[in-house]
Parts: sequence; structure tokens; C-alpha cells
Amino acid sequence: MTEDDVDRIDRNRRHFLTVATVVTGVVGAGFAAIPFLASLKPSARAQALGAPVEVPLGSIEPGEMVRVLWRGRLVFVLRRDEDMLARLPETISELRDPNSEVIDQQPDYAANDTRSVRPEWLIVEGSCTHLGCAPLEDFEPRLVEGWGGGFFCPCHGSKFDLAGRVYKGVPAPTNLRVPPHRFVRDDLILIGQDTGAA
Ligand code: FES
Repeated sequence: MTEDDVDRIDRNRRHFLTVATVVTGVVGAGFAAIPFLASLKPSARAQALGAPVEVPLGSIEPGEMVRVLWRGRLVFVLRRDEDMLARLPETISELRDPNSEVIDQQPDYAANDTRSVRPEWLIVEGSCTHLGCAPLEDFEPRLVEGWGGGFFCPCHGSKFDLAGRVYKGVPAPTNLRVPPHRFVRDDLILIGQDTGAA
């Protein structure tokens, strides 16, 4: 491993720690501030062990993304704007699995063109399907380079589009995973639970 590789991995770890700190404010103030499960309040303990996580959507602007933790996993909640959605078809020829044919990577209700229940909202795990680093967002398109915006993994260079679909020719073998989720209301989702048809 070269010094550049080590530096990239360190930067990615720092990014994840920063992200995890931000996220705990979203999902519950007591969640990460307390180090041991035994010391958690019952609701926080259930959450740490895998209970579904509610995510309010009302304050997320089009084009913005928040990060939450579910079962100790980072999850991206991206509100795609119209321009982002319009870009999805433009890089399909660059993608390894544009039609979400690897069935383990999403529930059936997200095996569609936008990999979502509602096109505006992308919910994907923030874990690169190569070796699990946290991808970074890079939403600005550079279509001359075949890049319509999406996520870039700093560890070994895997790339994913704005639906979490993996590009060809990178180490990651599959699309980012869509966790089970459902809309409780228009402005509230529950990650970690669905109805089978969301
Ligand atoms: S962990 Fe993402 S490319 Fe290797």
C-alpha cells in the first residue's frame, strides 16, 4: 500500500467519523454520546440494536442529503432535484447494473429506474460494495467525462451514480444497497421497516 493509499483511507475514516457525529444529532441526541449499550435509555438501546430509525424530511431541500445511522450503518437520504433526476438516464451506458438486476441490493419496490419508492428520495446505505468505505458525494455533473454526479469512494476509486448504481470498471461489484424503508407520511420515513410494498 502506498502513502497515497494510506492518506486516502485516513481521510475517508475522518470523513466517516465526522459524518457519524453529525448524524447522531438527527436520529437522537443520546445515541452516540453514550458509549455502552447498557447505559443507553431503552429507546436508544433498541435503536442501537437495530430498531427502525425515523427520518424527518421536511427540512431537506432539493439537492441536499442527510446521513443517518441505522443498525450502526451509515445511510444516505438524498432529496434529488429535477435536474438530478433528469441526469439519471444520461450515463446508463457507463453503469454495470443499470436495471438493478442484482436482487440482494434493493427491495423489490426499489428495483426501478430511480431505485426508490418516490423518485425524489434516494435512500441508500453509505457503504461501498467493494470493502465498505464511506463514499463521498460529488453531485456536480461532468458529462464530457461520463459523470452525471453521484458518489465517489476515496479508498479505491469506485463510482456510483445518483441512484447508487455502480459504474463499470471500478472495484465495487454491485450497486449501493437500498435498505428497507417506507414513508410514514410525506415528510417522514422509517428506515429499517417496510410493508413489503412500501
Ligand atoms: S472500498 Fe470503495 S473502492 Fe474499495
